[in-house]
Amino acid sequence: CDLVVFNLYKKNLSTSLKRSKIEAIFIPIKVDERKKNIGTVSTLSSKLLSFNIDRKDTIIAFGGGILGDIVGFTASIVLRGINYIQIPTTLLSQVDSSVGGKTGVNSSNGKNLLGSFYQPKLVIIDTDFLNSLPRRELIAGYAEIIKYGIIIDNRFYKWLLRNGSKVIDGDQRARVYAIHRSCLNKSKIVEADEKENGIRALLNLGHTFG
Ligand code: GLY
Repeated sequence: CDLVVFNLYKKNLSTSLKRSKIEAIFIPIKVDERKKNIGTVSTLSSKLLSFNIDRKDTIIAFGGGILGDIVGFTASIVLRGINYIQIPTTLLSQVDSSVGGKTGVNSSNGKNLLGSFYQPKLVIIDTDFLNSLPRRELIAGYAEIIKYGIIIDNRFYKWLLRNGSKVIDGDQRARVYAIHRSCLNKSKIVEADEKENGIRALLNLGHTFG
């Protein structure tokens, strides 16, 4: 779990897991872009192994995009691959990074150069998490939503021109619609080109050109 998100939601999370009779261990970690490196993956892996996990266990990545990328990559290498679930808590991770199985960390040679394509078993998106997200983060996520309008979905782009501010300002219906449509668009592209040999590269528009 991302430490900040964990502190906000630990009660809800542990109650939900208990109610579903899921036995869980929480590993809160402080993440930022500087921590997105192989050292953090190594520390997290050792911690997981110290709990004697096996391949029947599942890791849940609870937090934003950086956390999801670190945890996904760790899940892909621990015991040669263990199931994981994404519960993204930022708009950016809900509409982009949690979906499609790209995992990874930065290397001293560049961003996201160490990683794997490793699909989560499930992605659980709850728009309520967005209520505690700073506006700047909402706008960063919104840039990824516009991306789908530009690269693949002209009707959605037109809808966003009329309704985009509702998504940022907290209209639940608009948020659910925009997130759902973004994920549908992303899944179409990932299904066509999971390993980014062609069309998937379009999804990098929001990260480079944008
Ligand atoms: N975030 C870009 C991709 O998933 O391909």
